[in-house]
Formats: sequence, C-alpha cells, structure tokens
Amino acid sequence: MAVVGDLIEGLLLLLPAMVANATPVVAGGRTPVDMGLTFLDGRRLLGKGKTWEGLFAGIAAGTAAGALLSLYRPELLFIGFGVSVGAMTGDLVASFIKRRFNMESGAPAPVLDQLNFYVGAVVALYLMGYQFTFSLLVILAIVSGSLHLLTNIIAYILGWKEHPW
Ligand code: CTP
Ligand code: MG
Repeated sequence: MAVVGDLIEGLLLLLPAMVANATPVVAGGRTPVDMGLTFLDGRRLLGKGKTWEGLFAGIAAGTAAGALLSLYRPELLFIGFGVSVGAMTGDLVASFIKRRFNMESGAPAPVLDQLNFYVGAVVALYLMGYQFTFSLLVILAIVSGSLHLLTNIIAYILGWKEHPW
C-alpha cells in the first residue's frame, strides 16, 4: 500500500504542472516566445505554437492550483509555482527539439509531446529536493502522459485544439 500512497503523493505534487500544461490550449495567445527568430538551421527557434500568453497563463494557472492545494499542504504553494515553471520549460525545450528535426508546429512527436511537461516538472521537483524511485517515476510518467493525451483528445472534440495529440 506504500506504493499507492507514494503514487498519490507524486500526483499531488505534479497536479499543478498538469494544470499549467493544459492551460495554454485554451489560453494561448499570439505573441510567439521566440519573437519569430530563427536558429542556425534557418528554422524557427520554437515556432508559432509557443506564445508568451500561453506561457504566463500556464504558470499562473498552475500556481493558482498549487495555492488551492496549499490550503491542505502549505508547501504546495511554492511547489506549485516550481513545477509549473518546470512543466512550461519542458514544453519549450520539446518544441526547440521538434523544430531542429524539421517538424512543423503541431506535428505529432509521440512520447515527446506527452511527456515534455512531466520531465520538466520532475526536474523542478528534484531541484526543490523531491526525489522519486525509478519505478515510481515510470508509473507517474504513464499516468501523466495518459492524462495529457486524454485531456488533449477532449479539447480536440470540444474544438479548442487543432490536433488530438
Ligand atoms: N500554446 C501557447 N503557448 C505555449 C504553449 C502552447 O499558446 N507556451 C498553445 C498554442 O496555441 C498551441 C496549443 O497551445 O498551438 C497546443 O500546444 P502544443 O501542442 O504544446 O503546441 P503545438 O502547436 O503542437 O506546437 P509544437 O509542435 O511546438 O509542440
Ligand atoms: Mg502539439
């Protein structure tokens, strides 16, 4: 049962990151983070899918989720902000990688699309002093990635998102 407890604890710490990650889909804007700049390969640094509005809305929403959870667990206020920044950073890094592989904004990159925010959030948690065992990291990755895919499919059905991934 300790595993279940650890899983719930892990999901609690990651919940603000999931909120942060899901927010730009509905609160994305028009000002590209890369400001239209291109990299050495001539392609966009990050692409049109990453906007400042989405970035800030994501961090704000994730931090707000952490603030709400902090009513039960005070440390989640700080953690919520940290994992939100981590999640959004992971998302930007993934777009940078996709552009280097000449993939259009919005093109599917299985695993990378679903887990970029998770890796960013886990790195942030690690920097804040939270460590997980390898097996828990794998379980949390599967749960987080599946939830991400599920929410994206729902957003696609609702017409909020161009692609279901
Ligand atoms: N979005 C945003 N700002 C961000 C992240 C996402 O505005 N920092 C919005 C964009 O409208 C984006 C949508 O959320 O199109 C879906 O996000 P995502 O799937 O991460 O981006 P993609 O458009 O697929 O681009 P990429 O190929 O770079 O992942
Ligand atoms: Mg995408």
